[in-house]
Amino acid sequence: MQMTPITRRRFIKTVAIGTTALASAGLLTGCSRARFNHGVASGDPLSDRVVIWTRITPYQAFNGQHKILWLVATDAQCQQVVGSGMATTDASRDYTIKLDVTGLHPGQTYYYCFYSQNHRSPVGRMRTLPVGPVSEFNMAVVSCSNYPAGYFHVYGEIAARDDLHAVLHLGDYIYEYGADGYASEDATALDRVSQPATELLTLSDYRTRYAQYRSDPQLQAAHGRHSFICVWDDHEVTNDTWREGAENHNPGEGDFFARRAQALQAYYEWIPVREPEDGDRLSIYRQFSIGELLDLYMLDTRLIGRDQQLNYANYFTSSGGFDAAAFQADLTNPERTLLGLEQRQWLQQRMAQSQATWQVLGQQVLMGRMNLPAPVATQQISFSDYQQLAYLAQTNPGALSPEQLAILQAPFIPYNLDAWDGYFVEREIVLETALSLDKNLVVLAGDTHNAWANNLQTVQGVDVGVELATSSVSSPGLEAFFPAEDPDALSAGVTQIIEPLHYANLQHRGYLVARFSATECRGEYRFVNTVKSETYQLLEDYAKDIKVLPGAGNRIILDA
Ligand SMILES: [Fe+2]
Repeated sequence: MQMTPITRRRFIKTVAIGTTALASAGLLTGCSRARFNHGVASGDPLSDRVVIWTRITPYQAFNGQHKILWLVATDAQCQQVVGSGMATTDASRDYTIKLDVTGLHPGQTYYYCFYSQNHRSPVGRMRTLPVGPVSEFNMAVVSCSNYPAGYFHVYGEIAARDDLHAVLHLGDYIYEYGADGYASEDATALDRVSQPATELLTLSDYRTRYAQYRSDPQLQAAHGRHSFICVWDDHEVTNDTWREGAENHNPGEGDFFARRAQALQAYYEWIPVREPEDGDRLSIYRQFSIGELLDLYMLDTRLIGRDQQLNYANYFTSSGGFDAAAFQADLTNPERTLLGLEQRQWLQQRMAQSQATWQVLGQQVLMGRMNLPAPVATQQISFSDYQQLAYLAQTNPGALSPEQLAILQAPFIPYNLDAWDGYFVEREIVLETALSLDKNLVVLAGDTHNAWANNLQTVQGVDVGVELATSSVSSPGLEAFFPAEDPDALSAGVTQIIEPLHYANLQHRGYLVARFSATECRGEYRFVNTVKSETYQLLEDYAKDIKVLPGAGNRIILDA
């Protein structure tokens, strides 16, 4: 619909019309009274439109249709109304409402709310994207919010910020495990036990889980304050999902594609993401243009094209040796894909057409090369023991035993084959695309539960761009896998041993703000001290700012 400014009198009339509509629909009865227990949300902002969302909670079981009045206004009291209308919802979409409000002006802040009878939802704030020259654009980047693992203080911090133009959620918005599953050790003590108690398999299961997550006040506050741009990772369906299956799906759990369809239905019901134009809910990849400053490409690396993850365990021969040749052949197979050909060509074409200063990929898994010594990657030796051997090799090499020497001479191998490291050729294609087009490439990533900053290099070592990867909202990071290691030493050691890696925080939950201007991109990493208690602090000592310059200097990350 087209928005036209309307007066307060007309606003009252609009509300009255809405109430009349409710009355004429026969819904002004007790049985249809509803509250807004899950807050409001907005998402997928463009220069002229934003998706707005809410869900009603009927007081009693009521299976009919609910009519809801929505308003978009220019003031926080939602009185200077510039758009309004009626919407309906019912059990078939879990009582959620999602509307694409069009006819808005670029680069503007708007407010929105919903009415059900005399109940008004909280008022949400949202922002359209700017056009033309843009002086700055700031995006918070988050991923991996695990309800039973801890409090969502990271969302609370984001809600409190006034300098953000949008929030990027790179997936693992929910986790699919049952109440005794991954990262749930403290759930009872925190009163955050997963609902339903079982692993998510059905539409009803996924809906219940979203409803629980969205009952969280800090997550509601973040949604109400900022427009989100979301994409799923694996846990919105199930762990380590790929094109035709997942690590955490077995035949006893039914058909994988049926499960995926149910998971996606709940995702589109609950997440303020625009419905794909072609009606295919898998087609979540999409572009956001922030004027002349940057083009953001939100990608799917999970469901559309991804070949199954390689697994080192499959390359050990019957004699116990590792068949490196077979592994290398599979890893470097030119057909091997993470994006799928269609999505990859779409990305290449859009990047070629773009005139924007910055090309930004919003996607799930780490793109930077994360090769570790094989004995460390396969956990045959601890990282600190390896470092001691390396130190010995420098200071007193004659003291090394043949076994120790063999450890030090072992090749470096990717430690995470679920990331771009396991999709070797396609990563080169994406990097070569940016290189040949001479674009300023910034890749954003989540998934690992830790914070990283990488220089992205081709296999020949040519610098192409940078990767800024956010920590998790609450999921445990590498510190949980290496409890015996000092996390500060581990971060420093990993940064030293992995050449393109510039920075790592391997112990704290947090978020990243990616700030873009015509003259620089700045990554601001922020962390909280705990997600295990209701009180917490920002960790000033661990705040980290890094800077990337466009043009000739965009290959180098500087500490800001
Ligand atoms: Fe995660």
